[in-house]
Amino acid sequence: MSLELTWLGHATWLLRAGEQRVLVDPFLTDNPSAEVGPAELDVDFILITHGHFDHVADAADIANRCDATVVANYEIATWFAEKQGVQRTLGMNLGGATELPFGRVKMTTAFHSSQLPDGSYGGNPGGYVVETQGKRIYFAGDTALFSDMQLIGAAGLDLAVLPIGDLFTMGPQDSALAANFLKAKKVMPAHYNTWPPIEQNANEWAELIRTQAEAEPVVPVVGQAVAI
Ligand code: NI
Ligand code: MN
Repeated sequence: MSLELTWLGHATWLLRAGEQRVLVDPFLTDNPSAEVGPAELDVDFILITHGHFDHVADAADIANRCDATVVANYEIATWFAEKQGVQRTLGMNLGGATELPFGRVKMTTAFHSSQLPDGSYGGNPGGYVVETQGKRIYFAGDTALFSDMQLIGAAGLDLAVLPIGDLFTMGPQDSALAANFLKAKKVMPAHYNTWPPIEQNANEWAELIRTQAEAEPVVPVVGQAVAI
């Protein structure tokens, strides 16, 4: 059983679960913090949390080159199929779960917005709880703090990936409250330092988590796999 998570910059993550590779919110080409390009990735599934460009930008190209399945809410999955020519899509919606070859994926609520890059309606934003290799990981997506995170964490979480950039999502202080709502064993920060408006100090964030939350903060370096 092997489970590794690699931060590719911003909100883009590569999960290696056994033989399966799962990409979350691919945004690489125009991502100032990314160190790999979309052509360097070989993946089986792509999970999309919402329709904003910094979460969907490279998904269609990667999906079609790799013959990967794009998993998203129904509106975004339909947009990828009909407007982006993606061959394999799976539409789902908030609260729903599905069994995929690497594990179980449940779409969770997020408080954000979700318009697609061409102005199309992108449905509701979401996050994912991924159960794989005996672990449970929560990708919050772009979201504000919300108290129902207590329900998302009720069954236990090995890791929660939370946005900390502020401005467009929750910031560091709210991420500490989120970590406590979620009762996650570990938390990782995302959606920060990509551009000046969402600059955060990761070491200060980690200290905030250590002093105000129960979870262990883990600050990944772009491109370095972390064993979960
Ligand atoms: Ni967004
Ligand atoms: Mn975003």
